[in-house]
Amino acid sequence: MDTLNVNTIDHAFPGTLGAVVRGSLQSGLQMKLDERVSVEEIRAGKFVVIDGENYEFFCMITDVTLEAASESVLSKPPTGSDKFASTMRKILSGSSVYGALSLRPLLMRAKNAGAEFEPVKTVPVHFSPTREANGDDVAMIFGSEAAGDGHFNIGAPLDMENIEVCLDLKKFAERSNGIFGKSGTGKTFLTRLCLCGLIKNKAAVNLVFDMHNEYGWEGSIEDPTRQGVQGLKQYFNNEVFVFSLDPESTRRRGVKLENEVKISYKQISADDILLLADELNLSATAAETIHLLDSRYGTKWLGKLIGMDSEEQKLFCDETGGHPASMSALCRKLKRLVDSCKGFLREDLADADDAVLQILGRLTRRQHVVLEFGQYRNPLQYMLVANILTRRIHEEYTRQMEVAGNDRGKQPPPLVITIEEAHKFLSPALARQTIFGTIAREMRKYNVTLLIVDQRPSGIDDEVLSQIGTRITCLLNDERDIDAVLTGIPGARDLRGVLASLDSKQQALLLGHAVPMPVVIKTREYDSDEFRKSMGSFSKALDSPAKKPEEFDDWG
Ligand SMILES: Nc1ncnc2c1ncn2[C@@H]1O[C@H](COP(=O)(O)OP(=O)(O)O)[C@@H](O)[C@H]1O
Ligand SMILES: [Mg+2]
Repeated sequence: MDTLNVNTIDHAFPGTLGAVVRGSLQSGLQMKLDERVSVEEIRAGKFVVIDGENYEFFCMITDVTLEAASESVLSKPPTGSDKFASTMRKILSGSSVYGALSLRPLLMRAKNAGAEFEPVKTVPVHFSPTREANGDDVAMIFGSEAAGDGHFNIGAPLDMENIEVCLDLKKFAERSNGIFGKSGTGKTFLTRLCLCGLIKNKAAVNLVFDMHNEYGWEGSIEDPTRQGVQGLKQYFNNEVFVFSLDPESTRRRGVKLENEVKISYKQISADDILLLADELNLSATAAETIHLLDSRYGTKWLGKLIGMDSEEQKLFCDETGGHPASMSALCRKLKRLVDSCKGFLREDLADADDAVLQILGRLTRRQHVVLEFGQYRNPLQYMLVANILTRRIHEEYTRQMEVAGNDRGKQPPPLVITIEEAHKFLSPALARQTIFGTIAREMRKYNVTLLIVDQRPSGIDDEVLSQIGTRITCLLNDERDIDAVLTGIPGARDLRGVLASLDSKQQALLLGHAVPMPVVIKTREYDSDEFRKSMGSFSKALDSPAKKPEEFDDWG
């Protein structure tokens, strides 16, 4: 019997794959693969449906195995290329030896009309037929973008092209979320997609700390892989504003710049520096020294410190009981830091130049802000700036929320802050102290949530991870990273294998608050014609130098 295409083997039950033979609620189900389907066609992560007696069960394939009815068949395998061996293989396969699939049921639904999806509380009867999921199943569970109710297409289930898996954006914006995966797997693309969804559907305002200048405008010309991928400003012109720490680099790339961001010494608190203790390699006594400076000079502490010569340092230590060696090391390191940031760091700034007020001005008008870092993209500079700005923006949000009380009309719009290299801000050592840890833990109390983009989730504090509503995870190899992403997820053991078998690009496992059940997707093509059209960005993006108005004519 020849192997048939999965989709054509059974006309009564299109896409039939086989039947359930054993299993348990705890450990998942096993099914025997129909002899007409080759195991080689089956991939872990595929979405299938079991047609039980009274319920349908919506499942993910978590493992594919080769089974034998008895050990003895395996003792003399019919190898060889002759006709006899090949006939023997055909006779044995399907009954004596067969493929088996492990399934993890993720949702179930009674078969009567109008029944709701519910968590899985039982198992299907023996020999229940199992089939591939179809477009209707997916649309019923994940909704559809066309319905216009805040669902955003983020990709297609494995092997199901042109079928939409949607994020429920309202739920997405309700909690902090994470996009994980090792380098080069598609995190930045997924992040752009999510941001497009949030902006297009007005589900939240966004502040993006754009470490590598990838979100505002198309990628820099130096990087051939990113050239030509449009940024958010090109999609949503007047709704998105690009701020920059490095206006030179931003202008050089042809980006329409809203504002330069400058930061003054007095905005840098003792705590901001202590958060960089690791990056700056500060000694244990540095904290003490900074606090001595802080209590004597208040907001002027940094300027005072880096202005001191060795005599003055010594005098300060004599007077305050400070540690001279620590003092001079601190002074040297902070001088170097200030020097490396001199493009945007100022001793003094007029209130009118306060970047936080300018950013807040945009956000409260429901406009989105992308902050480009230009050349200041090392972790030290990134962390320093992201911390300082976020701390004050959060303060202001907290104040506005308290003033507004329960009057929703007066509350500031929900804000999503996107940060990359998130583990650096949210490590177990820092998560209790940084503003980002606070935001992740307080769960939108003040209308602010995070979109965390990271390649090393195991470096993030457990408590923060447990607060992450939706996790979108591309391929991860490191066991600890896989464990971290699956912390607190029921059936995590089964999903481990699925995560480890994702393609190295443009595939992701979605799980959590914004999707009714975990699902593996092929990520939606970003910046394709279809995508551009569906964002409706053409009429707004006319002043993009990359595109001429004529090109938009037939898009309506
Ligand atoms: N959704 C997508 N649409 C189009 N191309 C993608 C998509 N996801 C990934 N890619 C491809 O994979 C490459 C790496 O993706 P990227 O998001 O830059 O990875 P990461 O941020 O994880 O390092 C991209 O340059 C692009 O070619
Ligand atoms: Mg990236």
